[in-house]
Amino acid sequence: MILTRGFLGALFSSSALGQVHHFYSGVFTGSSLYGVEFNEASSQLSFIYNGTLDISSSKWIATDKSNRNIYIANDNTYESYGIGNNVNYIVASNAEPFTVFGAPYSTGCPGQVIKVGSSGTLESLAANITYSSDSGIHGLALSSDNRFIYSGDDMGSSIWTHSYDEETTSVSKLQRLNVTGNPRHLAVSPQGSFIYVILEQNNQLAVFNRDKTTGLISGRNKTFSLLPSGKTTNPLNQTSLFECSLFSISNPGYSNSSLYWSDEVMFSVPQEKGKYPKYLFATVRSRTSTDPGFVAAYSLDSTTGTISDFLFIVPTTGSGGASNSITPAIFSEEFFAIADAQGNFIEVWKLGEGATTATVVAHLDVSDSPANLVWVD
Ligand SMILES: *[C@@H]1O[C@H](CO)[C@@H](O)[C@H](O)[C@H]1NC(C)=O
Ligand SMILES: *[C@@H]1O[C@H](CO)[C@@H](O)[C@H](O)[C@H]1NC(C)=O
Ligand SMILES: *[C@@H]1O[C@H](CO)[C@@H](O)[C@H](O)[C@H]1NC(C)=O
Ligand SMILES: *[C@@H]1O[C@H](CO)[C@@H](O)[C@H](O)[C@H]1NC(C)=O
Ligand SMILES: *[C@@H]1O[C@H](CO)[C@@H](O)[C@H](O)[C@H]1NC(C)=O
Ligand SMILES: *[C@@H]1O[C@H](CO)[C@@H](O)[C@H](O)[C@H]1NC(C)=O
Repeated sequence: MILTRGFLGALFSSSALGQVHHFYSGVFTGSSLYGVEFNEASSQLSFIYNGTLDISSSKWIATDKSNRNIYIANDNTYESYGIGNNVNYIVASNAEPFTVFGAPYSTGCPGQVIKVGSSGTLESLAANITYSSDSGIHGLALSSDNRFIYSGDDMGSSIWTHSYDEETTSVSKLQRLNVTGNPRHLAVSPQGSFIYVILEQNNQLAVFNRDKTTGLISGRNKTFSLLPSGKTTNPLNQTSLFECSLFSISNPGYSNSSLYWSDEVMFSVPQEKGKYPKYLFATVRSRTSTDPGFVAAYSLDSTTGTISDFLFIVPTTGSGGASNSITPAIFSEEFFAIADAQGNFIEVWKLGEGATTATVVAHLDVSDSPANLVWVD
């Protein structure tokens, strides 16, 4: 495992005021990394950076908390690239480096705790996150206090809880919870009482209760279908599915779950300090290239972080291929972006009036299968 470092150069100058926003997108095939500008007023997407990196693919990308570095998971390596001139309003305490956590999707391999330098670049492996010989970890999530690491074990059909001690950079295994349906990606509610988990094979969003003090998962709270399946899709409010979604009441329901594989779960990003996310988004990929995937949305209770209402499930433009990954905007809770690796495009979506649906507001074709993207402003 090698850590390499590079510099991406300035994606943009300090012109990023008001209604112009930017993101980077990695790809599944090829060595591209795109920098894209989204103009909110004109709903235009345009390339402003076409990077070619010395890598075979940039499977999953993330930014550090201050958006000064892009982290790339690329086959056998984790890499970090500095972003120049990035003026940003979420700039956190830059003096304190933020530890990074990663996991390879490979049977029996440990995950890694990676120390970062003072400017956020990846520096060294500090600890392993160990699993079982039958495990294959697809997603990681941290509690908001960074004391607990949750791992979606897709191959080993379980969710792991590890504690993390920043002072000693040590990781301890606390719990393996067997969950059928291939847990893939997860998100811990910032309030602390719930973990939202994508069950890839079952096409479900599972909600687990979490003990805020011990970090342990203490049971299943609810499960939502991520496919439009008639009346059973919305356990909270049976009628709103039909009022809110594109599917009419005559929809016979989806009995073909095996033709789909669910992908991603993410919170919207609150715009005010101290506020909690208003929405939870999830996406589903279709295994059939000619059939669309889906994006689902739920509203969250601001006090507890529980799902207070099902909002909608609507078809995405394409199947999503291997991605259909969703990235909520960091400038508004009403926008999100979706990368489609089958159709080779990236789209920005906006919630409709009352958040009862969402529609595409901008579309950009790219040349090689986009995997996921990260907003930087
Ligand atoms: C992590 O595990 C690997 C073997 O998989 C081992 O070589 C390495 O020393 C471990 N690193 C730490 C920091 O424990
Ligand atoms: C969880 O699954 C693993 C792997 O299949 C198995 O070894 C273990 O006994 C299971 N644990 C429980 C509590 O069922
Ligand atoms: C789900 O969470 C809510 C809110 O904390 C709680 O009142 C309810 O008892 C939980 N249900 C289950 C089945 O754990
Ligand atoms: C269900 O949702 C509809 C609108 O979407 C609302 O008018 C109705 O009051 C809700 N019912 C319950 C029981 O929450
Ligand atoms: C799954 O079934 C639904 C409802 O019958 C249908 O609309 C959809 O096209 C099917 N999906 C695939 C991938 O065939
Ligand atoms: C970036 O690449 C796309 C094709 O993927 C091309 O259409 C576009 O013109 C390029 N833009 C720049 C700024 O190089």
